[in-house]
Amino acid sequence: MKTRITELFGIEYPIVCGGMLWLATPELCAAISNAGGLGNITACNYDTGEDFRAAIHKARSLTSKPIGINITLLPSMRFTEAIYDDFFRVCAEEKVTAIEVSGKPAVKYLDMLHKAGVKVMHKVGAVRHALNIERYGYDAVIAAGIEEGGHPLNDDVSTMVLLPRIVESVKIPVISTGGIADGRGLAAALCLGAEGVLMATRFIATRECQVHPRIWDELINRQENETALICKSVGLQGRALKNKLVEKILKLESQGATIGELIPLLSGARVQQAWKTGECDDAAFMVGQSIGLVKEVTTCQELIESMVRDARIIMEKNLARI
Ligand SMILES: Cc1cc2nc3c(=O)[nH]c(=O)nc-3n(C[C@H](O)[C@H](O)[C@H](O)COP(=O)(O)O)c2cc1C
Repeated sequence: MKTRITELFGIEYPIVCGGMLWLATPELCAAISNAGGLGNITACNYDTGEDFRAAIHKARSLTSKPIGINITLLPSMRFTEAIYDDFFRVCAEEKVTAIEVSGKPAVKYLDMLHKAGVKVMHKVGAVRHALNIERYGYDAVIAAGIEEGGHPLNDDVSTMVLLPRIVESVKIPVISTGGIADGRGLAAALCLGAEGVLMATRFIATRECQVHPRIWDELINRQENETALICKSVGLQGRALKNKLVEKILKLESQGATIGELIPLLSGARVQQAWKTGECDDAAFMVGQSIGLVKEVTTCQELIESMVRDARIIMEKNLARI
C-alpha cells in the first residue's frame, strides 16, 4: 500500500495512531511502528520536555522504525507556553518522524521542525481549517469527523462528508479519522480520497495498550450509540463513553453549569487512574463511536495486518463487481 502518506513518513501501511492522553506510551507506539504503521507518543503524558525526551528514547529502544508524536495545543491548566516550546524543541532535536498537532495551529514552530526534517500534520474538523493548515505550510492534514473520540470540532460534520470535502479542497495529503477501526473503514477512506487513516479507540483494544482488562471488556460490550458529546455548552466539546459520570455532566450542563463547575469532573488524573483500575463509571473516557466496531483484543500486528488484508479483499471484490 503506497500513498503519499507512506512515502512521507517512510512507513509500510497508511495506518497512523492518534494522540491518546495517558495511553499513547512508548510501548504502544513501538508496537504500532514495528507492525508497519506509525505509532504515537502523546507529549502531554509528560510534565517536562526532558521526561518527554526520555519517552522518545524508550520508544527508540523498542523500535528502529519511524515514530510519531501528538502535541495538543488546547487551553490547559497543566502546561505553560514554555513547556509547549520545550515539547516542540525536543521533537526537532530528536528528529522524530512526524508530529500530529491538534487545537491551535503550531505555526511558530513549523520552520524549526522542517529544518530538522520533522513532518507536521494538523487535525481539523472543517474545510476552512484545512485550507489554513495548507496555507501555513503543514505537510499533511487530518480530517476528523464528529464520530471521533477526543475533541471533535463543534461543526459536527461526519467523516463521510468531511473527508471528501477536504480532499477536494487541498493539495496536501489527507488522513481520515473518526469511526475507523477495521479494513472496511480503511478501504472506504482510501476510496473517498484519503491517503491514510488515523485511529485511536481501536488501538485501546490491543494487548500492548496498558489498560486494565476490564476496559477491554467494556469496549467490546459497548455499541456505537453508547458515547455522548459532553461540554458542548461550554465550548469544549468532547466525545466520551456513556456512564454514570457522563450522565451527571450532561445533567449539570442542561442546568447551565459553568466550565469551572465541570472541570473537577473532567480531571485528567481521574481518567488516568480509571484506565488503570478498570473502574468504568468514574471517569470521562474519551472514546469514539468506533467502539461499536471493536470486537476483540488483538496485538497491534494482528490488527494492522488484518486491516490491510481485508481492505485489499474489499477493494478487489468491488472492482470485480463493476
Ligand atoms: C483515549 C483517547 C484519548 C485521546 N486523547 C487525545 C489527545 O490527547 N490529543 C488529541 O489530539 N486527540 C486525542 N484523542 C483523539 C484521537 O487522537 C483521534 O483523533 C480520535 O480518537 C479518532 O477517532 P477514533 O477514536 O474513532 O479512532 C484521544 C482519543 C482517545 C480514544
